[in-house]
Amino acid sequence: MSTSKRKKFYVTTPIYYGTAKPHLGSLYSTLLADFVARWNKLKGNDVFFLTGTDEHGQKIADAAQKVGKDPKKFVDSFVNDYKKTWQAYEIDYTKFIRTTDDYHVKAVQQWIRDLQQKGDIYKSMYEGWYCTPCETFVTAKDIPVRPELVEGSPNGSPRCPSCSRETHKVHEETYFFKLSAYQDKLLEFYKNNPDWVVPKERLNEVIAFVKSGLKDLSISRTTVKWGIPFPDDNEHVAYVWADALNNYITAIGYGQEKFKKDFAKWWPADLQIMGKDIIRFHAIYWPAFLMALDLPLPKKLLVHGWIKIGEQKMSKSLGNVVDPMNLLKAYGADPVRYYLIRKMAITHDSPFSIQDLEQTITSDLANDLGNLLSRMVSLADKHGIYELLAPKTWSADALKLQGECVSAVKDFYTYMDEYNFHMVLARLWKYINQVNAFFHSHEPWKLVKTDRDTFLEILCATAQSLRTVGLLLWPTMPNKMEELLKSIGVVFSLDHNTIEELELCNWNHNFMLTKIPPLFVKPEVKKVTEQPKEQEKKAALVDDIITIDAVAKVQLLVGTIDHCEEVAESEKLLKMTVNFGEKGTRQIFAGIKKQYTPEDLIGKQSVFVYNLKPRKMMGMESQGMMLLAKDADGKLQCIAPVEKVENGTRLC
Ligand code: MSP
Repeated sequence: MSTSKRKKFYVTTPIYYGTAKPHLGSLYSTLLADFVARWNKLKGNDVFFLTGTDEHGQKIADAAQKVGKDPKKFVDSFVNDYKKTWQAYEIDYTKFIRTTDDYHVKAVQQWIRDLQQKGDIYKSMYEGWYCTPCETFVTAKDIPVRPELVEGSPNGSPRCPSCSRETHKVHEETYFFKLSAYQDKLLEFYKNNPDWVVPKERLNEVIAFVKSGLKDLSISRTTVKWGIPFPDDNEHVAYVWADALNNYITAIGYGQEKFKKDFAKWWPADLQIMGKDIIRFHAIYWPAFLMALDLPLPKKLLVHGWIKIGEQKMSKSLGNVVDPMNLLKAYGADPVRYYLIRKMAITHDSPFSIQDLEQTITSDLANDLGNLLSRMVSLADKHGIYELLAPKTWSADALKLQGECVSAVKDFYTYMDEYNFHMVLARLWKYINQVNAFFHSHEPWKLVKTDRDTFLEILCATAQSLRTVGLLLWPTMPNKMEELLKSIGVVFSLDHNTIEELELCNWNHNFMLTKIPPLFVKPEVKKVTEQPKEQEKKAALVDDIITIDAVAKVQLLVGTIDHCEEVAESEKLLKMTVNFGEKGTRQIFAGIKKQYTPEDLIGKQSVFVYNLKPRKMMGMESQGMMLLAKDADGKLQCIAPVEKVENGTRLC
């Protein structure tokens, strides 16, 4: 693409508190930004991707003091952890900003001066409640509408609406930002830009908050020392959010004469990504700060839900965090990247579980995609075929698959434009399974002896499809997709290709095949090769006796049969969709057609083996097993709890 046609794309993540190592939630915000940044690079756009750390404020000063360290040194080690984790997860950021960076400190002071000159910052007294862990003021208007915020509090101080911890009283001289002056402008802006926030609904809570009346915002503290000193008044340091939000402009040159051009090139941001807990800061304070500077507002805010463990948000203070580096060691970066983008819905909080991660790697990556590649390449290799030339004309079946490819690519673009990332991948998987069905139903391993031309056509159509899939999946799994493409002879390079020039659905490409080791390793395979413990080995020798460890390995879960239908080609099988509550839904087959009709079962609860390796039944995947009681005559009966229990309840 000529450089003149390249659009600029500026994407940001929140900057992370430098009080701890990154966890899976921090990885999620950053991964979404990397995913969108790579997609834009693939489209030929000129991308700036910013991330970094938020290093000032009482929270950090307190944490450093606890371990007897100077705050800057304390944060340094965590910054290293962030950088290492991002590198391990192939997060290809352009710049990593630290709010202790000298240029940022100076630019924030410049920002204060600019606003003082405009009359948007003034000095007065502040009295109110403050939550240090969230670095946020609890305003009077949070309290009357939420009486639970004061209940049970020993000294009458309200609890923080965000984290529920006790707040403390602040009474001090402070500089205020004239937030109230921007209330009408903000409301006008929201009205004119209803799609500014994705998902749309999140803007409603912001509008309601602003409509209920904005008070001026205290933006300096005298009781906190670890922060950016106010220019000409060193008693005060900048409130940590006023300092932190400005990172989005200071990183690209705001406040530095020599970077004026860069700033003009990149601002406004095209996309700012954050979790739902910090939308108020980004959708109220931040645009008001920018309006005060007469700067344009970011074009879009993408607000995601939380990753949850059970019912709780994953967070350091709750002690339930998952370390992304441990996941990386066990499963590799790309499978975890895929899992997070595929399984966490932007619009909702999403549960995380190792079982679900392993199940997804096994079924989506190893079975659906990895096997497709290896079956095609191995079959070709077996018959000494390395070069695949695109036929001049395609058969009707191949053209049908090509049509499905066109429609998959179209939908992929639509979902990308809507930031509906998990649907982007779900849709692509529909196509991968169409390719699998095409390959399987033509039985090319038989055709090789009887109809070589058709045999070659099946291989080539599969390779054309894998090329499209590999390129579209590159932003999700960059390393694995480069390996996949290499094994069919496609050299991936952003330097000379953009997605438009790659002609995703033009099936005129030739391929050079190379056999490679399996692209994805099934987690189950790893477990099987683990040495059983001595004790288990001994127990295994005694007839039918198992240890309690072996029992603990089987996850027996109660689920409701939401849907059930007969498998037409089978005498025995019923196909069910089973709802395991927070653990999701599964497709499960059971050989009980003779005993039960679908109507007997729909809406009923039963017990299922949840962590069974998926199996193919009549060409479809069964993702678990229904437990049945079998009498001496072979008659089968479902097993159900006496009284209804919550879906996903585990038997013990
Ligand atoms: N420092 C502020 C942001 C300042 S931006 C100018 C902050 N930092 S944070 O480290 O607490 O959170 C950073 C991001 O991580 C937020 O977007 C937050 O939503 C996200 N996550 C933290 N825990 C999370 C989950 N359990 N799940 C998903 N993301 C969550 O807030």
